Amino acid sequence: MPCGTFALNMAHRDQKIFLSPPHMGADERQLLLEAFDSNWIAPIGPNVDAFESEMCDRLQCGHAAALSSGTGALHLALLILGVESGDEVWCSSLTFAATANAITYVGAVPVFVDSNASSWNIDPELLEVELRAAAKRGKLPKAVIAVDLYGQCADYDPITRICREFDVRLISDAAEALGASYRGKPAGCFGDMAVLSFNGNKIITTSGGGMLLSSDPEKIQKARFFATQARDPAPHYQHSHIGYNYRMSNLLAAVGRGQLRVLDARVAARRANNAWYREVLGSRPGIEFMPQADYGHPTFWLTCITIDPEAFGGTSEELRLHLESLNIESRPVWKPMHLQPVFSQCRVLGGEVAERLFEFGLCLPSGSSLTDADRERIRDGIATFG
Ligand SMILES: Cc1ncc(COP(=O)(O)O)c(C=O)c1O
Repeated sequence: MPCGTFALNMAHRDQKIFLSPPHMGADERQLLLEAFDSNWIAPIGPNVDAFESEMCDRLQCGHAAALSSGTGALHLALLILGVESGDEVWCSSLTFAATANAITYVGAVPVFVDSNASSWNIDPELLEVELRAAAKRGKLPKAVIAVDLYGQCADYDPITRICREFDVRLISDAAEALGASYRGKPAGCFGDMAVLSFNGNKIITTSGGGMLLSSDPEKIQKARFFATQARDPAPHYQHSHIGYNYRMSNLLAAVGRGQLRVLDARVAARRANNAWYREVLGSRPGIEFMPQADYGHPTFWLTCITIDPEAFGGTSEELRLHLESLNIESRPVWKPMHLQPVFSQCRVLGGEVAERLFEFGLCLPSGSSLTDADRERIRDGIATFG
């Protein structure tokens, strides 16, 4: 390695390389300051309306309500689709806890479905077999939540068909997949309702925030109603339903509008990271990348690999700790929900694929602001492992 590069690497070693940090630009700052100066400092205002309509223009799939989080959006989707206490809701086991937590907020019972190895998303064949069996037993779930994991859409054609056949509501948890597409249609446009997240680690962020989408304007109207404490149309404060304080702040919506303008660039950068990782690690024994399904275009929000410890010479956890010692953040693939202590009483359909992905999987630094120097540090870090 040339001395200059070494010196550069040493100089930057103090700076942590994060898994997926926020990536802001001048537009976001400008819009935020304008919102501040306008004194629309409330969970209502022109940026909230504009963020919703700009997202709808971008996705071309109907209507949207900007909310304070993706978790809140999942909660409202379940409520609006009529999920009630005691109902079953089936969801991917391999997901972030928010998907499953929201099911419990309405008193419903989560049932976890395994992934398929070819996309890491909910296995449509397993889902079909199990829904048919549940129909025979007369115990169908009220809803299914399909998750678009790590920036790759679930296989919506078979999932939608089977849910329709049994009149089961479908929610698309696209929190990790804004910018991805499935058979030419954008993530966020599937199911009866779809959810986005703008949490700080997402491909675009409002620090915290989410959005609920649907082709049905009435559902989105209801979402706005429930998200603002379910206030009846009266001059005084009158309430006939339990409501929530889930609306997005006008300040954060301003940031979201600026971020949406650079979404294509952010997606391109994440895809470039993934291509770079494949180039650098592709020939290294024992490493496999999360498969790219042939039905769509993932964003590679996170670049994920699995590690065969024997062929690689160490486990994914050992590599994670090694990178951590170099101030480089990586993370295990989601721990499946059926292995979580809090959901240990819940049913799981299959589960071995998700378990294997958790055991061997690792998410690598994937931010859209990764520099060449960061990449060199990551490459050297992996090269010096073992
Ligand atoms: C799959 C999935 N669903 C839901 C959420 C929840 O979104 P939020 O953090 O905006 O509540 C997240 C991420 O945070 C997620 O990764």
